Amino acid sequence: MSLIIAKRLDQVDDLPTVPHTMQRVLSEIEQVSSSAMSLQAIIEQDPVITAKILKIANSSYYSPIKEISSVARAIVTMGFLEIRDLVISFSLIGLFCEDLGFAEFNSKKLWLHAIAVGVGSRMIAKEVHGLDSDDLFTAGILHDLGRLVYCLYFKEELHQVLAEARNSGVGLNQAEETLGLTHASIGAYLALRWKLSDILVAVIRYHHHPQEAGEFVQAAAVVNLADALAKQLRIGWSGLSEATRIIIPKVLGLDVQKVEQIAQQLQEEKNRIIDSWGDIIC
Ligand SMILES: [Fe+2]
Ligand SMILES: [Fe+2]
Repeated sequence: MSLIIAKRLDQVDDLPTVPHTMQRVLSEIEQVSSSAMSLQAIIEQDPVITAKILKIANSSYYSPIKEISSVARAIVTMGFLEIRDLVISFSLIGLFCEDLGFAEFNSKKLWLHAIAVGVGSRMIAKEVHGLDSDDLFTAGILHDLGRLVYCLYFKEELHQVLAEARNSGVGLNQAEETLGLTHASIGAYLALRWKLSDILVAVIRYHHHPQEAGEFVQAAAVVNLADALAKQLRIGWSGLSEATRIIIPKVLGLDVQKVEQIAQQLQEEKNRIIDSWGDIIC
C-alpha cells in the first residue's frame, strides 16, 4: 500500500480500535497456560458477547441435546476453539452493524458472507496439510473487513469506484484496483493497526491475489477459494457483477472432486448459517 493511502487512513480519527474482548481472547490463546476457565472469565465480563454465545449455542446451528445456560457449559459442549472463534466473530460483527450509507451494501449481508467464508475456509483448511483450520476460520471472517471500512470512512472514493464499475462494466475489485484503493489494502492496514497476527494481515491483503502472499500463499488461497464458493452459493452479500467461476488454486493440491465435496458440505450448511447467525448478527 502506498504511503499516501496509509497517511489518508491515519487521518481518519475514528477508525475503530481493536475490540477489547477480541484482543484479550487472541492474547489469551497464545499463552501456553490458556484454559477454558480463563476464556470463560474473559467472556463473562462482556454481557453482549455472553448473550450472543448462549443464543447461538442454543440455536438450530448447534442443536444441543440439553439447553445451554452458561458460558462454562457452552465451552464444555462446543469446545474451546469453537467458542474462541465465536467470540472473535461476535466482537467484530458488533463493531460494524450500522447503516453503511450505500444502497449496494448491507452490513448484515456482508457479515453473512464473511461467516460463510469463515466456515468454508475451515472446511478447506482441514483438507490441506499443515494449515490450522481455526486460524483460517478467523481469517475467513475477517477477509472483507476493508469493505465495511470503505463504506463508512471512504464514501467519496467508494462513489467513484461504483461509478467506475458501472461505466466500465467491470467488477468492484477491478474498479478498486483501477482507482488505487482496494478493500484488501484497507482491511490489511486496519489489521496491522490492531496488531493482528501476520497470517491474518497477509490473508486480508492478498485474498484476491493469493499468489502474492509469500509464505502465507496457502492460507490466502484457502480464503480465496472459500470466497468463490460462498459467492457461488449466494450466502450473504457477494458483490456486484462478480463472476462466480471457481478456480482452484494449485498450491492447495485439491482436486475437483474434493472441492465439489466441500461445496456440497457448505451448501448443506447454508440454511443453518442464515437462520442461526442471521438472527444474531446486527
Ligand atoms: Fe474481498
Ligand atoms: Fe469476500
